[in-house]
Amino acid sequence: MNLKQMNLKRLLLALLLAPFLSIAAPVKPAPEIHLDHAPDRSQDQKALQNGARIFTKYCLTCHSASLMRFNRLEEIGFTEQQIKEELMFDKGKIGEPMNVALWHADAKRWFGVVPPDHSLTVRARHSDLGPGEDWIYTYLRSFYRDPMRPSSWNNVVFPNVAMHHVLWKEQGEQVLGQDGKLQLLKPGKLTPDQYDIMVADLVAFLKYMSEPSAKQRRPLSIYVLIGMGVLLGFAIVLKPAGKKLRAPRRVA
Ligand code: HEC
Repeated sequence: MNLKQMNLKRLLLALLLAPFLSIAAPVKPAPEIHLDHAPDRSQDQKALQNGARIFTKYCLTCHSASLMRFNRLEEIGFTEQQIKEELMFDKGKIGEPMNVALWHADAKRWFGVVPPDHSLTVRARHSDLGPGEDWIYTYLRSFYRDPMRPSSWNNVVFPNVAMHHVLWKEQGEQVLGQDGKLQLLKPGKLTPDQYDIMVADLVAFLKYMSEPSAKQRRPLSIYVLIGMGVLLGFAIVLKPAGKKLRAPRRVA
């Protein structure tokens, strides 16, 4: 039997066995992803400030927010001194964008990917599943221990993610049960409720960064709506008078 005939025989054998093999090793269906609703804390200045502190302490080492400048954080109530002392650790200039010192080449070597810039992540993560803030809120609460991953962490909404759970000391360690549900195996420094609030504040800040002028635009849109309401009122009141004017006059 020559090589060509042998290969053909193997192919036929594989085709014959294929249905049995697929029964023996069923493909595990991907768990259905359900997003939890992120509490809206974007109008709460204290929450936004807390979110900014968490972001600069835990995330800015790897993720930049290059469309945001530090001095813009005065809009959410920080003084210049607070920004310098509490949020800028490298003693740079207050007008600088929120960049990271991490080199892209190093990041690629360590994580296999470059951590994305977070200026617009909330908008970018908007999908049929729900708003971007719900995705990030769920993501940061869905890490679980997985010894098969190089970082020993995996995530329900982002399977095989390259990021490890940077807030694990706060949340504790979760495992994924056979039923596809997360269970808290080792509690962290915070209770689950406290951790949810921490993440909600962080997400509120990420949302603010993705649209910093939303705060100013909201009162403006209220004035526009009031103005349109007044015009509509006039139109309703004047409609009968307009009809009378347009009606053809009878000539006696
Ligand atoms: C040690 C580095 C590191 C730190 C610190 C870190 N991340 Fe990440 N993060 C990554 C990497 C790497 C990825 C890319 C993961 C991938 O593509 O598999 C990522 C991805 C993400 C994503 C998914 C982005 C997307 O849309 O694909 C979000 C959201 C995120 N990180 C949020 C955060 C937040 C919030 C913090 C701070 C609490 C944080 N990260 C801290 C390394 C880090």
